[in-house]
Amino acid sequence: MASNKHVPLLLLLIITTTSSTSLTDDQSKLVIKIIDAMISGESFEDWSEAFLSTNDEINGGQVLTSTLFLPKTSVEGINSTSPLVAAYHIVPQLLHFYNISLMEHLSRIPTLLSGNSIVVTNNSASGFTLDGVLVSEPDLFVSPSIVIHRIASPFNFSRYGGDDI
Ligand SMILES: *[C@@H]1O[C@H](CO)[C@@H](O)[C@H](O)[C@H]1NC(C)=O
Ligand SMILES: *[C@@H]1O[C@H](CO)[C@@H](O)[C@H](O)[C@H]1NC(C)=O
Ligand SMILES: *[C@@H]1O[C@H](CO)[C@@H](O)[C@H](O)[C@H]1NC(C)=O
Ligand SMILES: *[C@@H]1O[C@H](CO)[C@@H](O)[C@H](O)[C@H]1NC(C)=O
Repeated sequence: MASNKHVPLLLLLIITTTSSTSLTDDQSKLVIKIIDAMISGESFEDWSEAFLSTNDEINGGQVLTSTLFLPKTSVEGINSTSPLVAAYHIVPQLLHFYNISLMEHLSRIPTLLSGNSIVVTNNSASGFTLDGVLVSEPDLFVSPSIVIHRIASPFNFSRYGGDDI
């Protein structure tokens, strides 16, 4: 498994991701499982099934209350098999599009990638963008603890994740 080598890195990420959203030990373990499953596929399209199957809501298993931003297309240089990229596309809060649509321009949404947040770049109804990327299918999947929104292309945390856009 190519992804095993990332686990210590992930632990570090998650342990430090506690400023606004503290995760318990069990949740941190689940986060590692989710991200490992996501990055073991080949493409962004594989993320949704991996995300839903590791969050065992249907069988009453452990679930991370969270929002996944699922890229529709890939982009050279942003790798769906990177744990950092995967962690940056998950927000450990339940955010329906309604919640996001009320956020002010330049609001920041903390992600599982330590110190990196997603920024609201355009909050107009006709072209709602986060990190400059269109939210193309809001509320693509909604359950009591999970929401998935489809976005036109992947987010670039190197450009938007810090607080200096
Ligand atoms: C994506 O990341 C994997 C694992 O780090 C690496 O093996 C692969 O070469 C990368 N692909 C691209 C296109 O950068
Ligand atoms: C999102 O909106 C719903 C419906 O108004 C509300 O119940 C919920 O508390 C909001 N969630 C957040 C995180 O603000
Ligand atoms: C937001 O998008 C709308 C519609 O695409 C556009 O008219 C507006 O200028 C954009 N606002 C900003 C701040 O980019
Ligand atoms: C991501 O952002 C970095 C920093 O701004 C930039 O150098 C890089 O080209 C961007 N990658 C993509 C795929 O846009």
